[in-house]
Amino acid sequence: CGRNYLYHPTLSSTNDQAKESARRGAPEGTTIVAEEQSGGRGRLGRSWHSPRGGLWFSVVLRPPLPPARAPEAVFVAAVAGVEALAAYPGVQVGLKWPNDFVWRGRKLGGILTEVTGELDQINHLVVGIGLNVNLDLQDFPPELRTGVTSVREITGGDVSRSELLRQLLAALEHWYLVWLKQGFTPVLAAWKRHNACLDRLLRVLTPEGELVGRAVDVDADGALLLATAGGVRRVVTGELQVEGD
Ligand code: BTN
Repeated sequence: CGRNYLYHPTLSSTNDQAKESARRGAPEGTTIVAEEQSGGRGRLGRSWHSPRGGLWFSVVLRPPLPPARAPEAVFVAAVAGVEALAAYPGVQVGLKWPNDFVWRGRKLGGILTEVTGELDQINHLVVGIGLNVNLDLQDFPPELRTGVTSVREITGGDVSRSELLRQLLAALEHWYLVWLKQGFTPVLAAWKRHNACLDRLLRVLTPEGELVGRAVDVDADGALLLATAGGVRRVVTGELQVEGD
């Protein structure tokens, strides 16, 4: 990954730029980085606050897999992110299902994957990663401040974003190859080692409504298993809120 590296001072969204490049035939590993995004996008149609000082980038992948397997890529990127961040003293982050990097319950970053393809074959898969790196809480709008953190907030100083990006891309390449060669099982096993929500009481907003229960596991397809009063429910898409212990 990171073989064809394109840096932009400002973009609307690195994911949009990466998708456009992919449509025009950009090779696998093409990496789009922006100093800031004016229209950064998060999951579930949300906007993503992306000022200067963060690390906002997207990678074009072309896995020889059916589109139904694309959701697994979030787990690949999540494991890579946790491992790269672990090189920084004190930045032991956990994962909040499926794609949030969290530190003491606060969000440090997230992943947005987007896929295009035919029924049997992915054409391209864009993996977008956003990390709050050299940012202060004051860099966020007041309504976000209680829920976020940054590498600078955790370590008390700035880190080199180019070095962090290099480590992230190396880890992404490693886990991408594990995924292609060995399948999803080892990726999921690694993801589970960093699961910050295991046994926590969660409120989960799903397209079908709200569920409350304890996170008991993530199944072989990456769905969250929630023990609710009405039995174990399988959640494929949703937004988690940690309720307590
Ligand atoms: C989320 O947690 O909701 C996912 C956030 C993903 C943000 C990154 S920043 C780089 C890339 N470009 C975007 O517009 N979004 C992703």
